[in-house]
Amino acid sequence: MVIKGELTFPGDKSISHRSLMFAALANGESRLSNSSTGVDVQSTRKCLEACGIKIWNDGNDVIVKGGTFSNPSEPLDCGNSGTTTRLLLGLLAGQGINATFIGDDSLSSRPMNRILDPLSKMGLISESNNGKLTITIHKSELAGIKYESPVASAQVKSAVLLAGLGASGKTSVTEPTLSRDHTEKMLTGLGVNIIVDGLSTTISKSSSPLLSFKLSVPGDPSTAAFFATAAALVPKSEIKLNHVLANPTRTGFFAALEKMGGGMACVNQWEETGELIYNLKIFHQPLQSINIDEKDVPGLIDELPLIAILATQAKGKTEIRGAKELRVKECDRIHAICKNLKKMGADIEELDDGFIINGPTNLNGAEIETFHDHRIAMAFSIAELVADGDVELDNPECASISYPEFYDVLERLKQ
Ligand code: S3P
Repeated sequence: MVIKGELTFPGDKSISHRSLMFAALANGESRLSNSSTGVDVQSTRKCLEACGIKIWNDGNDVIVKGGTFSNPSEPLDCGNSGTTTRLLLGLLAGQGINATFIGDDSLSSRPMNRILDPLSKMGLISESNNGKLTITIHKSELAGIKYESPVASAQVKSAVLLAGLGASGKTSVTEPTLSRDHTEKMLTGLGVNIIVDGLSTTISKSSSPLLSFKLSVPGDPSTAAFFATAAALVPKSEIKLNHVLANPTRTGFFAALEKMGGGMACVNQWEETGELIYNLKIFHQPLQSINIDEKDVPGLIDELPLIAILATQAKGKTEIRGAKELRVKECDRIHAICKNLKKMGADIEELDDGFIINGPTNLNGAEIETFHDHRIAMAFSIAELVADGDVELDNPECASISYPEFYDVLERLKQ
């Protein structure tokens, strides 16, 4: 079996969440094309609708009639989505909305103090379950702060900046390493007063509402990475990935794959609505190990399960460090990667902030615990391509959180 074909992808999940939220803030009708088909983005849509924003489909496009938010009459169900919770909580706090946020078991165990701490410094009155969901926010007068974030997290940065849109004065966030910059880029494009200075971003209270906009969301590089891994792993494979977002804060996986010796060619690259986009060709070549440390992590945080699988087939010792954030994703991804790869016969050692893999090793089929985490489910479906025997996932359906079409597309590529 080889992996062959040409793919385009539904829109990037991070940009899709933000485009719905920013369209909701804007006066008038915005038109979004190629929005993510994932359940997470549906959670954002439903929460915005519960806050009085009218959203409907027009063919494949989504139309958002934004303007004013109202207090939701029911708790906002953010499902499995950390981005929905953290960004929307900041945004609604800035708009003076009373709301309660709930989510599934995974989301309810994730740390929310990372946003509640800075937001309470801005004046937000809220109650939480020991820094976790359920959280209720109350209409509060917010004032800008200068916040030094202890983590490189785009969700934290965005929550504070979005609250800053409605806070008096200026709000600035400094992060230890640059995390994805979609919030600041998109808001700048929409005319908001934002200044980026190295690792610090400052936003000023917006006196007039945003203007409505049209956006075609570029293909999701985090989704493309699964198929790139498949083609890189399976001998004689070659795949073309079209219209993939090439924002420099998101290209870490492809840079790492190239460094590992993976076959890669950028067929062409261009700019569209302020973002770089590229078409890539990925093909199989022998792989070698790689070292990844704290400064590299934000650029490929969601792709580390795939780097682990590549490393099992690469010659030498791969060390991933400075990735403690993986422990507080949809599941403890360090634990999930190590437990499942060990079951498949990989030589992997778990570290507090990462893992060490010695390769190459033959992988065998195994029963895989997904921990109901979409990226674990999809990553181990890719591992199966180079395993002797079948991989049985305990919850394959969770892939729909980011890419409901995943298994159909993967089947289509197998030749
Ligand atoms: C996201 C940011 C990342 C990423 C998540 C989406 C975003 O989280 O893991 O899948 O859209 O801002 P952190 O920035 O909190 O690490």
